[in-house]
Amino acid sequence: MCGIVGAAAARNITPTLLDGLRRLEYRGYDSAGLAVVDGKGQLSLRRSVGRVASLTAIADQVDGHVGIAHTRWATHGRPAENNAHPHTSSSQVAVVHNGIIENHQELRARQIEQGFPFSSETDTEVIVHQIDWHMQQGLGLLAAVQATVSELRGAYGLGVVSKLEPDTLIAARSGSPLLIGLGEHENFIASDMSALIPVSNRYMVMEDGDIAKITSTSVEIFDLNGQPVERKVIISHLSDEETELEGYAHYMKKEIHEQTRAITETLEGRLGADSVLELPFGDNAREIFDRTKEVKIIACGTSYYAASVARYWFEEFGIKCDVEIASEYRYRKHVVNPGTLFMTISQSGETLDTMAALEMAKTMGYSNTLCICNVPESSLVRASDLTIFTHAGREIGVASTKAFTTQLVTLLMVAICLRRRRLGDGRTIDAMETEIVNELRTLPQQIENVLSLEDQIIVMSKHFGDKEHALFLGRGAHFPIAMEGALKLKEISYIHAEAYAAGELKHGPLALIDEDMPVVAVAPNDELLEKLKSNLEEVRARGGKLFVFADAESGLRSDDQVMVLNVAPVNNFIAPILYVVPLQLLAYHVALLKGTDIDKPRNLAKSVTVE
Ligand code: AGP
Repeated sequence: MCGIVGAAAARNITPTLLDGLRRLEYRGYDSAGLAVVDGKGQLSLRRSVGRVASLTAIADQVDGHVGIAHTRWATHGRPAENNAHPHTSSSQVAVVHNGIIENHQELRARQIEQGFPFSSETDTEVIVHQIDWHMQQGLGLLAAVQATVSELRGAYGLGVVSKLEPDTLIAARSGSPLLIGLGEHENFIASDMSALIPVSNRYMVMEDGDIAKITSTSVEIFDLNGQPVERKVIISHLSDEETELEGYAHYMKKEIHEQTRAITETLEGRLGADSVLELPFGDNAREIFDRTKEVKIIACGTSYYAASVARYWFEEFGIKCDVEIASEYRYRKHVVNPGTLFMTISQSGETLDTMAALEMAKTMGYSNTLCICNVPESSLVRASDLTIFTHAGREIGVASTKAFTTQLVTLLMVAICLRRRRLGDGRTIDAMETEIVNELRTLPQQIENVLSLEDQIIVMSKHFGDKEHALFLGRGAHFPIAMEGALKLKEISYIHAEAYAAGELKHGPLALIDEDMPVVAVAPNDELLEKLKSNLEEVRARGGKLFVFADAESGLRSDDQVMVLNVAPVNNFIAPILYVVPLQLLAYHVALLKGTDIDKPRNLAKSVTVE
């Protein structure tokens, strides 16, 4: 999704802006640009469609001390140079913007009457003309931005520069994340701290309504009423090590293989001899769990599928659990039972729909809010009563992999803690908890074993290279795993993939079965195996070709219609965490065959900060 970098320094900041944009590439974008107040006091503007490398080719000669840069993920207006940011007005002011301005049409109509020429189809252009208009009425840059944002409806993270105040960078935030990075005789803004790794490890988080005036030597922040406000300085622990490919062809492949380590780190310090420990979850975790009688989980995409798997665990443990997609939850009425814990799940912690759902939930009588998140500096973390971190490390591939399995591990630990309360005093450990904890402890090794099946999965992937559709089947907690497998395949290989609860086949999708519709099934050796086998027979009888990830003791064997890949026997609770890994590898290798841009699939963004 769109990314912002800005800088005010005593040196030429163009290389820092371009480097920052490169670091934001993983978020997904379609065009890029920068504007710098150059040595002659003019605004130098460069924009291009495509990768940051294309922008670098036309911008690396630009020289100046104050500037803004942007990667754009198209919302209003197609990907084109004229729609790329920054946008300028009268060659005096330049703006980069993340978010969506809802009243852009009425502002545009007024500005056309005032004589402002429009060169883009974006909602952003009205912002820069409005600032320009206020400056023409005699306001300074800060005051002009303050006046402008008071007229905007919608979400914005803004970086603004003007040749009339060549030493100043203005930043403003409402609903779209923006950080101020602090350096020595230089200061920065960014939508994501990873843009600033080489230049700053100290930063402040702008809050909604904040407007900052930034120079190379000073940072002043004001609230919406123009009153000065202080924001805490935070130390960032992000490092370049996490962003190296380390010999892998793609981040996605690296991240799939990192799951052994990521799960180990997520479990570290949280498992006692025979139980899940609560203290490492935070001082208030015990108190919050004590109050919880039922759970509502909200998330999007892969994080939603993690929640959907967890629902089986919570309800198996006798805890009512309801799961909903954030963008749906936001727009309907709700009945909230007393003692309901509102949980969000998010890799990035910046997904706008999830964040908005949390803000709404806070007004609705939930007992507490808990967030399961991978990014400590994120908005969801700051807005929740309690956060339990997934220690997946930075995830760069747009297709989420290690974030998903670490979310599952974390959710299982939370479910165990709540189960203990339901059974008694919250402290007594029983045999089932001990059994699951022992399984969790061996999970990294079991993941390693599944990863060693990769060569067989490569052979399997060759059957998908020429296909346009695929069907994924699972039952119970493996139905959401099938959905996650289908999501992985569609987002990186562009093959249309759908998942069904296997029992639903005969209610419609069976009509699709023929030799061109590969059917992928997840078949652990659980109480639903025999039912699933019957569903697979329904496919076979109609000439369908099956690709089954099955427990070695399931009795399923390969033949001319069925390709079975055996997974070592595994405990039922842990099985979904394990079975998703071969599906990730299958999607990866199919995409590799198809030659798609695996880490940055078309039209998608890593961090979805618009509605
Ligand atoms: C997964 O592969 C996705 N690209 C996407 O569905 C993602 O999980 C979703 O956008 C939610 O993101 P979050 O976990 O950062 O909130």
